[in-house]
Amino acid sequence: MNDNCNGTLQNHVSVQPRYGIDAPGFIQGFFLVGISAFLAGLFIPSFNLFGIRVAFLGPLLCFIALIPLALGTSMVIYGLRGKFNIRDLMLNMIAWRGNEQVLDIGTGRGLLAIGAAKCLSTGKAIGIDIWRAQDLSGNTMENTLRNIALEGVEGKVELKKEDIRSTSFADKSFDVILSLLCLHNIEDEKERDVACHEIARILKPGGTVLIADYIPTGGYAKAFAAAGLAVKSSKSHVRAAYALMWIVTATKEGNL
Ligand SMILES: C[S@@+](CC[C@H](N)C(=O)[O-])C[C@H]1O[C@@H](n2cnc3c(N)ncnc32)[C@H](O)[C@@H]1O
Repeated sequence: MNDNCNGTLQNHVSVQPRYGIDAPGFIQGFFLVGISAFLAGLFIPSFNLFGIRVAFLGPLLCFIALIPLALGTSMVIYGLRGKFNIRDLMLNMIAWRGNEQVLDIGTGRGLLAIGAAKCLSTGKAIGIDIWRAQDLSGNTMENTLRNIALEGVEGKVELKKEDIRSTSFADKSFDVILSLLCLHNIEDEKERDVACHEIARILKPGGTVLIADYIPTGGYAKAFAAAGLAVKSSKSHVRAAYALMWIVTATKEGNL
C-alpha cells in the first residue's frame, strides 16, 4: 500500500464495511448450470448405439460442468479477495500528493472512492453510479454511505447519481479518474466510446485515468487515444484478481 494512504485494508471497527459480490446473478447461474450438468453426467448410463458401447457421455458432461463451476468460483474469490488486491494495485499506481480531486466511476459500495479518500489530505473523492441492483450485491447509495461512515472518511467522499456517458462535471475537473468493473456494463461499443470521451473531457491536464475491467481494455485505450489522451499501458492482471482483469492507464498532456 502507498505510504501516503492510510491503511486501506486495516480498519479497526467492530462492524466491517462490505463491498459486495459483483454480478451475483451470473454467479448463481454458473453454479446452477454447473451443478445440474455435473449431476446429470453422474446419472447418464452407458448405452449401445449400433452395437457400439457408448460410455463417455456421462464423464464428458461432468468434465464440461467444471467450466461454469470454475467461472463461478473465480467470481466468488474475486469478490472476496481479488477486488481488494486490484483496488490496492490501482491506488499504488498513483503518486499521491493528497490534494487531488478524484472520480470513481461506477463506485458501487464505494470500494475505490473510499480507498482513494484514505490517500487524500485536502483532496476529495467523488463516487458516481446509477446503482444497478444486478451489477453488485447490496448495491444501494445507502449501503455506500454506511461504508463511508464505517471507514471514517465522511467529508472526503461525496456520492452522486450520474451516468458516466453524460456527467454534470465541468471540463478538466479531476486529477485522478478510477473505475473498476463498470464500463463493460455499457453494452454498446459506441456508447463505451462516448463514456471514454466524457472521461477525457473531465480529466485535468496532467491527470491520470485508470480503468480496470474483466474484458480486454484495448477498446478503451483506442477511444482514449482518439480523445487525445496518452495511453501508457493496457495489460492483464489476472494473478492479482484471481479472475479475468485488465487495466488501462492513460494521461492528459499538460501540468496540474
Ligand atoms: C460490478 S459493479 C462494480 C462496483 C465497484 N466499482 C466495485 O468494484 O466494487 C459495477 C457498477 O457500475 C455501475 N454502473 C453501470 N453502468 C453505469 C453507468 N453507465 N454509469 C455509472 N455507473 C454505472 C453499476 O451500477 C455498478 O455499481
